[in-house]
Amino acid sequence: MLILGLETSCDETGVALYDSDRGLLAHALHSQIALHAEYGGVVPELASRDHVRKTLPLLKEIFRTAGVTPDAVDGVAYTRGPGLIGALLVGAAIGRSLAWTWGVPAIGVHHMEGHLLAPMLEADPPPFPFVALLVSGGHTLLVQVDGIGQYRILGESVDDAAGEAFDKTAKLLGLPYPGGPALAKLAEQGTPGRFSFPRPMTDRPGCDFSFSGLKTAAITAWRALEPTPENRADIAHAFEDAVVETLAIKCQRALRETRLRRLVIAGGVGANRRLRQRLREMTAAMGGQVHYPRLEFCTDNGAMIAYAGWRRLAAGSSEDIAIEVRPRWPLDSLPALEQG
Ligand code: KG4
Ligand code: ZN
Repeated sequence: MLILGLETSCDETGVALYDSDRGLLAHALHSQIALHAEYGGVVPELASRDHVRKTLPLLKEIFRTAGVTPDAVDGVAYTRGPGLIGALLVGAAIGRSLAWTWGVPAIGVHHMEGHLLAPMLEADPPPFPFVALLVSGGHTLLVQVDGIGQYRILGESVDDAAGEAFDKTAKLLGLPYPGGPALAKLAEQGTPGRFSFPRPMTDRPGCDFSFSGLKTAAITAWRALEPTPENRADIAHAFEDAVVETLAIKCQRALRETRLRRLVIAGGVGANRRLRQRLREMTAAMGGQVHYPRLEFCTDNGAMIAYAGWRRLAAGSSEDIAIEVRPRWPLDSLPALEQG
């Protein structure tokens, strides 16, 4: 089955062609960083308009790269939610229209299910069951994954998502949008151990997270200092340390609670090198393994949507022509698929 995947939930236009026999044939991404940079964050209306401009040229590019024509496509997958409503509507309208024109089924994919399944695009895909840490700009979730659509939420953030905490802290430190990667880069130059911030909610049972107090702790410390580059890097280092350590403690707890040994990391913050390293050490010490998507498939992309769409379309799911999106959409409300 050849599936076209479209991702337009936020500030990246991602498209991909996934073939169930041959794997990923082509993918392309347009990032809107330059468009939103002067505003210090994503401007929803500009995001929607840019998806309109970029999707079709990117589609032409991947058909050319893959050396296939649209008549070979067996199904279309697009991101139905969660995300920015206008941005989602662009992908849904284009995806549905193409599927209708080509006479193939279409499916609206849950963005976080896309992230969750992204490690399946790698050479050593994790077998079910596993624990997944989903860390993006909008979500921080620990999930027990027994199969596709068989998701038990073990913990989630009660306030800011991990990526959001990176972004907001970066902004308050005066770093450019997108803050997460900028803060991580700055943290590399920081002196370890000069500052120490709390590991929120690790002293309580359970796997929920809270990151907004950590952001406040970092900013309060920063405002009490001379605004030198060294001080800024040291604060960034301590902030990253606290997020990474908190995530590692909760992941360890989730693995113990579920008696599972396999951990999957996905979502934009999964691109963080120190987090990847720390979780590798933690799972190795427990005799387990950790699986990541490659760096470019941690952040938003079309390949994960094509893959998730293929799994659901191959199991017989598809929807009628209505162009509908779900800006808010709980992951654990998805229907379970028969094991395959
Ligand atoms: O999954 P994603 O691309 O988009 C959403 O679905 O939200 O995640 C984006 C988030 C942003 O908050 C961004 O700052 C964060 O992931 N991020 C990082 C890194 N790369 C991206 N956070 C920390 N370290 C990174 N290297
Ligand atoms: Zn995402």
